[in-house]
Amino acid sequence: MRALIAGNWKMNGLTEDAKALAAGLKALDGQGESSAELLVCPPFPYLGLVAQQLAGSRIALGGQDCHGAAAGAHTGDTAAPMLRDIGCSYVILGHSERRADHGETDVQVRGKAESALAAGLVPIVCVGETEQERNAGQALNVIARQVKGSVPAGMEAERLVVAYEPVWAIGTGRTATPADVVEVHTEIRRLLVGLVGEGAQSVRILYGGSVKPDNAAELLSQANVDGALVGGASLKAEDFWAIARSA
Ligand code: 13P
Repeated sequence: MRALIAGNWKMNGLTEDAKALAAGLKALDGQGESSAELLVCPPFPYLGLVAQQLAGSRIALGGQDCHGAAAGAHTGDTAAPMLRDIGCSYVILGHSERRADHGETDVQVRGKAESALAAGLVPIVCVGETEQERNAGQALNVIARQVKGSVPAGMEAERLVVAYEPVWAIGTGRTATPADVVEVHTEIRRLLVGLVGEGAQSVRILYGGSVKPDNAAELLSQANVDGALVGGASLKAEDFWAIARSA
């Protein structure tokens, strides 16, 4: 399966940063050294700008969230059809930072994923346990609850991406061990087969949490690791590209 390397820029940078990063990525893309599918998810205000900058490149565009409704009175929110309209093909949903900052629940994440699918976007549904949950031996239970609660049932598997992002590995420089990653990804695959059937074999399961150029190759070579969701390292074109090359 072709790997997906996705950059989540989170809430970082201003106009000039977004322009420079997109220009840097487009220049590297021109060298054609990665066979992975590439995606960047900039902050909402810069989506249009980055879409223009990346035109003609192989790099896809995604949002970092969307609302569960297609339009309406939801001040400050962004609808999935708007993301599609502006050139997005993916949207990150249920990131742990949104679950923590905005109290997003599995039910809400599933509603957002349904809205994204209806708009023609591919949802990247994020799941992951906290350090406390892992230490309590609850990691797999938490993942199971999140996957079953957040993934729309009966959907076409090829239109779904799941990202495993252990909360304690995000922005900390600590990554899960390859063995832990394989254990969780294999469990996610098993859960997905239960939800969407054998088509789940083709769902890409990304790992996220302190992915860097120097650990990417090892993580990406593990069973059931079909790509990476990269935060901090995606803010440097060279680092993002180094990760893409190791896929
Ligand atoms: P870092 O790569 O900065 O740890 O962030 C991971 C992440 O949350 C991507 O969505």
